[in-house]
Order: sequence, then C-alpha cells, then structure tokens
Amino acid sequence: MTTEPTSTHPALENKNWWRDAVVYQVYPRSFVESGGEGMGDIPGIVSRLDYLADLGVDAIWVSPFYTSPLHDGGYDVADYRSIDTRLGSLDDVDTLVEQAHARGIRVLLDLVPNHSSSEHPWFVELLAAGPGSPAWDRYVVREGRGPNREEPPNNWRSVFHGRGWSQILDAEGEPTGYWYLHLFDTTQPDLNWDNPEVHAEFRDILRFWFDRGIDGFRIDVAHGLVKEAGLPDFAYPEDGDPDATPAMFDEDVAHAPFWDQDGVHEIYREWRRVADEYDPPRVFCGETWVPNPERFARYQRPDELHTSFNFIYLEAGWDGERMRKAIDDTITDHARVGAPPTWVLSNHDVIRHRTRLAPVDDATGERDLERGLRRARAATVFTLALPGSMYIYQGEELGLPEVVDLPDEVRQDPAWFRSGGTDGRRDGCRVPIPWAGDAPSYGFGPGSASWLPQPADWSTMSVLAEQGVDGSTLELYRSALRARRESTALGEGPLVWLADAPAGVLAFSREDAGGASLVCALNLETTTAVLPAAWGSSVVIGGETAVWLRA
Ligand code: NOJ
Repeated sequence: MTTEPTSTHPALENKNWWRDAVVYQVYPRSFVESGGEGMGDIPGIVSRLDYLADLGVDAIWVSPFYTSPLHDGGYDVADYRSIDTRLGSLDDVDTLVEQAHARGIRVLLDLVPNHSSSEHPWFVELLAAGPGSPAWDRYVVREGRGPNREEPPNNWRSVFHGRGWSQILDAEGEPTGYWYLHLFDTTQPDLNWDNPEVHAEFRDILRFWFDRGIDGFRIDVAHGLVKEAGLPDFAYPEDGDPDATPAMFDEDVAHAPFWDQDGVHEIYREWRRVADEYDPPRVFCGETWVPNPERFARYQRPDELHTSFNFIYLEAGWDGERMRKAIDDTITDHARVGAPPTWVLSNHDVIRHRTRLAPVDDATGERDLERGLRRARAATVFTLALPGSMYIYQGEELGLPEVVDLPDEVRQDPAWFRSGGTDGRRDGCRVPIPWAGDAPSYGFGPGSASWLPQPADWSTMSVLAEQGVDGSTLELYRSALRARRESTALGEGPLVWLADAPAGVLAFSREDAGGASLVCALNLETTTAVLPAAWGSSVVIGGETAVWLRA
C-alpha cells in the first residue's frame, strides 16, 4: 500500500533512516503544554518542532497519548484509536505528523499490546458478560485454585509488586472464582495473544495509524505478550521479597514463563508483514528487556522488529569492562541477524543518566551531580559514536538530573502505591521540562502549575538559559548531533577497538568506505589521559570526558 507522503522533505527519502537515526523521546504530558491545566499536550509538541529540528534529531517517539484513565501514565489504553481529550485530538496528531515531516522529522508512536486499560470496552464487556463468553477469551482469565477458587491460578507477581492476578467480581460485587492476569497494575489486564481476535484487532490498529502517515511504533513490553502454555508457577529466586517482583531484567527472571517466550516472535513476523505493505515501510522499535544478548538479537531478525532498545548497555553503568562487553556482544549478535544496534541512556522508566552515573559519596550517601553531569555528557558523546541508532530522552539535552524529592502526595507511579511507597519512583524522571524563565513552570505552560512540581533551582537548566551558551549541555548535544550527521564514518558500519588506549580509556575508531575515519575516546577516570600521537595528534583529555578526533 502507498500512502501520500505528507511532505517532500529530502530527509524523508531515505528508507533506511532507522538504521542510524537519532530519535528523541517525547513524554507528552511533560514536554510542553499549550492549554493551562498543567499537563503537556500535542499542540505543545507541534509548537516545539523547530526546537527539535535545530537540535538535529531524525525522528521523535511520542509516549502514549491515547484515551486513558492515566493509572499508568497512559500505558493503560482505553481506546487505541482516539486521543485523550486532555492531550489533544486526532486532528492534532495529523498536524503533528505533517509539521514534523515538513521538517524532515519522522514520527513514531507507542503501541501497548500486552495489556489494555480496565476501562477498554473489551474489558468492560468482559465484566458484564458471564464466564465462558467470547468476551472472556480476549484476556488471560483462569479459574482460581483452592476449594472456593479463592486463590490465584498461579504464583505470578505483578512487576509493580503484589499479586499478578485479581479476582473478577460479578454485578453484585461478589467473587466469581475467576481471575484475570495483570503483569502490571490491576487496571492493566493482560490481553490473550492466543486469541485470533486480538491479533486481528492489533493488525487493524497498526493500519489505522500507518494510514494516517506515522512512520512506526515503539512496542511496549515487547518480550511479554506470549505466556507459557499452562501458565505454570514460577520458581522465584528464594531470597526475594515475596511481595516484590524481581526487576524484569534480572537474569533470575529472564526465563520466567511470562517473559521472552518463543511464540512472541510470530506476532512480530505478522506485524512486519503489515509494516512492509506500506511505502515507505513502517518501522518498529521494541521495548525488549531481555538480558541475554543472543536471545535479545532474535527480536531483530530480518522479518521481525527493526530495532530494540539495548538495555544491556544502559545497565552497564560507568564501568568500562561492562560497557565494552555490552557493546561487543550487541554488535556481534546483531550482525548475525543483519540488524543495527540501538543505544539508549535514559527514558521515562529509569533514573536520568546524570543522576544514575553520579558517584555516591560514601560518607554522606549523596550523589555528586556535578560529576554526574560530566559523566552523562561524556557517555552521550561516546554512545553517539557507536554504530547504529540512538534514543535521547527529553530533558537529557539540558543535563536535567532526576528529581529525587517529590512529595509523596504528588506521586503517580502505580508501583509507588502497590509497594507501599518503597519502590515506584519513576515520576522523578517525568517532571516537566524547563523552557524559560526563573519560576515554575519555567515556560512549560501558560500558568505556573505543572502536574508534577519542578524543583526551585531549574532556571539555569532551561532551554532559554542554555541556548547559544558555549559549553552548555544543550549546545554540546546540538554540535554532537550536527557532527554525527556530517560524518560519513559515524552511523552504521564497523567499529575497531584501539588497543593502545591508555589505562581507563575506552577508545575505538570508525571508518567509512572511502577511508575517512574518526576516533572516539572515553576517559572513565578522574585524572587526565594522554592519547597516543599515533591516533592523529597527541591530545590530552580531561577526566570523565569523551572526545571525537577526526583523522
Ligand atoms: C513499559 C513502559 O515504558 C512503562 O512506563 C509502563 O509502566 C510499562 N511498560 C507497562 O505498560
């Protein structure tokens, strides 16, 4: 199928754009608001497309903006084909796509196929219908165990803590003895991917959005849709807290009967066929938390997803050995399937990398955020030189730290409530972006309010405060993205580690087909390092710094 291109911008001609793109993640509620209620929206995103074009990104991925009760920041979708009225309308999405394309920026949306919201018409229908009705088969529903079926069907836990099952109640509020699975919040029932109707519905949702001209989807929990037949109990690691679920990425749970099942690949083959019907073909990026590099690369086989976030690298921290191993494994395993690696350092679910990489003072337990910023900037420059594509999370280009002191009463992460306040701090990376000025909302919206309060000291990190300022993090990102775009040695292609790198320095060279080359070096130590003269000219680089040297 061919859809009319919404623009003839030359950047849109390259069908292989996704192989080395820099994609900017917009978390819509926190990007910029055009209204006045303290929540970001789609017209807000449209109003900042020039900013994104100047930054130099190739595409944006927009986290969910569909109709949703917002029990999990929009990852609880009540209608996959309509827009939450607080965030905009379908017309606004059309404008976003058209205006982004006019600037050569592609648009990826977020697809949430593992679960719907409990307010989705399908789940509402399930609650109204009796056991055994076709409506029940769209979700993972089983009879409970025990004499009165008062125990859940198995021992699976929710990623957000506590039981992974809730009992279905009848119209009088009485327990039915049947339970529905929710690997996340109780308001996020898991869909039953053994049911062909679910497959048909999602193919249709893909086409609905592809027909509107979007360029692809990021796939939520891409490794979770299929569950092992018979839903067997899982032997959780014994030292685990019985109410907590080990993080999805622990080796211990990687083989749980609800993650990374072989059957999930068939779904992506089916979707790839749909994406390939379009001209240009639409693309997918999986949120694929699979810690084994070989199993992870399988998702990127030529007839499946195009790319997936490399969380193995994100988890490597500020540790040269782990970083290098993650890079090597990823490149090797992706080469086997012919796919480009995809790098990411921050997103809306993890601690912002300025804070995550900051060293902790043993005496005070405080993180050194100045060093965190040095490391974050260096990590970004280093990562941008790796082969493949990269995702940037809104606000990291300003050097924003994680907000660690949000008052309990404003928190919204469902894991916060389900863990009794011991976990679920993802709101800290979702605080609205400072655009300008010295008082909240720092230009985020027309008023002073924002749905999560911004820290009092963010005025120096606003876009206005940093733009045009030599050495600011924003200008560092802009110049790195510009240089990356201009360099034929960067993007896809081989990487060669440089054996003569000084201790504590990770260095590799990249070369294009014509022989133009570039060296990238990351000094992980706090002391300066002298780079060998053989790499070009002898260069001294500061501690916790990265450089690109053009030969
Ligand atoms: C991953 C999303 O990124 C996260 O925000 C969400 O809570 C879970 N999937 C469940 O949809």
